[in-house]
Amino acid sequence: MTFLEEIARRRTFGIISHPDAGKTTLTEKLLLFGGAIQEAGAVKNNKIKKGATSDFMEIERQRGISVATSVLAFIYQDKKINILDTPGHKDFAEDTFRTLTAVDSVIVVIDVAKGVEPQTEKLVEVCRMRKIPMLVFINKLDREGKDAFDLLDEVEQKLGLTVTPMSFPIGMGYDFKGIYNIWEKKLNLFSGDNKTSISEGVEFDDLSNPELDTIVGKKAADTLREEIELISEVYPDFEREEYLSGSLQPVFFGSALNNFGVKELLDAFINIAPAPQPKKAEERLVDSKEKKMTGFVFKIHANMDPKHRDRLAFIKIVSGTFKRNSPYLHVRNGKKVKFSSPNAFFAEKKEIVDESFPGDIVGIHDTGNFKIGDTLTEGEELNFKGIPSFSPEHFRYVNNADPMKSKQLYKGLDQLMDEGVAQLFTLDMNGRKVIGTVGALQYEVIQYRLEHEYGAKCSYENLSVHKACWVEPEDIKNDEFKEFKRVKQRYLAKDKQGQLVFLADSEFTIQMTQSKYPTVKLHFTSEFK
Ligand code: G4P
Repeated sequence: MTFLEEIARRRTFGIISHPDAGKTTLTEKLLLFGGAIQEAGAVKNNKIKKGATSDFMEIERQRGISVATSVLAFIYQDKKINILDTPGHKDFAEDTFRTLTAVDSVIVVIDVAKGVEPQTEKLVEVCRMRKIPMLVFINKLDREGKDAFDLLDEVEQKLGLTVTPMSFPIGMGYDFKGIYNIWEKKLNLFSGDNKTSISEGVEFDDLSNPELDTIVGKKAADTLREEIELISEVYPDFEREEYLSGSLQPVFFGSALNNFGVKELLDAFINIAPAPQPKKAEERLVDSKEKKMTGFVFKIHANMDPKHRDRLAFIKIVSGTFKRNSPYLHVRNGKKVKFSSPNAFFAEKKEIVDESFPGDIVGIHDTGNFKIGDTLTEGEELNFKGIPSFSPEHFRYVNNADPMKSKQLYKGLDQLMDEGVAQLFTLDMNGRKVIGTVGALQYEVIQYRLEHEYGAKCSYENLSVHKACWVEPEDIKNDEFKEFKRVKQRYLAKDKQGQLVFLADSEFTIQMTQSKYPTVKLHFTSEFK
């Protein structure tokens, strides 16, 4: 296969959803179709179960599982499919945001009964801002849920999308009879007992055919006819270009658990979803078809075995062919590096590969040299754009609880922050360190890992901060900025990149500060230039 054919056959995507909408189940069914696994239940559920927040063993177990399921790859109809795992738990939302920098498209899973949930809103917003092509799968049609049209309205309004249904359900819950696939003009009937096998659809390109009444009953057949007509009047036709540019989102209905509507989704997906896309670097746009290898680190995972502190850095290949034992430039530190045992990922295993192509993910053993966002090239000074840091939701002082181990503590904190576990701020006034996280769970993870991987102990102290605001003065020399720095001295800190941050204790403070110092802009993400 030529290099260009290798690129054209790759589909690298993520599945995003609110916890419990059915992401794990859908992933598993996709793997079944790809023949990558033989039976349902093989993909372990990698969500942190509710109520397990203090259970360290659970955290460890989950970490292990999430390495195994970080990237799931399989071949389906000659396409190489790479699914990147995105944790649904809100405490790990940052992980998901970062993974979204490495996908070429996403599938959004929505629970038919719950509709659009908060976590979905946040994740879709990030995808929308980045114009990532999105496909929506409405799941659990075997259960009573919201009316399909109401749900489509909800998706448009709450998620700000423009949808076009590619399939439509016949009934729902107890009355669920099947799905009409508008895209392929096929009728798929639900028999209820086909939980793991694959059902074949019946071709049905003319819905006025009276046979439809015989198959699903007159009432259901008439309703379907009306609904499909309404759809053709109300919703825009599917245009692939619009989907690829992020301005139109096709919607599928089904039941992942019952393997219903999943094959239709997958078949449409491999046809319409994009092959590896060009990626923006600060310096220029890099096309996947360029011959020279470029790639970037989007995820770092600590080793499960505390005796080996090496980590696995996940690299998305953007262009060229990644070769084992070839020297690559690690742009941030200017050093050439070679990898003797890069890993490729499959459904249930990882193994050493000689070559990887754009769209693929390789796992590299790292002893602490890589940071999230680092770029590798064949010599060019390139820096791929990552995702900005958002203001954390929780803030605590971190104290050294074992003075003999301060070196270990700082090293541990440094490496955990490079992995993207949390954000570290250093107060200007007294050098105290503040850890900011998205969820309270991270504090336990950090404490546990500092102790078990670095031999350091820490304790936390509460700090009343509402938001971290990145500060952008119009002019660093003007009196207003000097006055701002003097008055707010106690609340000023530096983030890990050395950017100035104002730790505001309330929304009110933010508003007051903005109106008092209009030339000092406050931003809620670290990327504003
Ligand atoms: P997540 O990864 O998005 O968090 O969701 P997951 O796939 O784990 O699914 C959450 C729950 O919803 C699971 O039940 C799963 O069996 C169920 N589910 C998924 N798809 C469907 C569907 O199409 N129909 C119905 N009725 N249920 C579905 P659970 O009881 O929480 O877990 P389990 O014990 O079954 O694993």
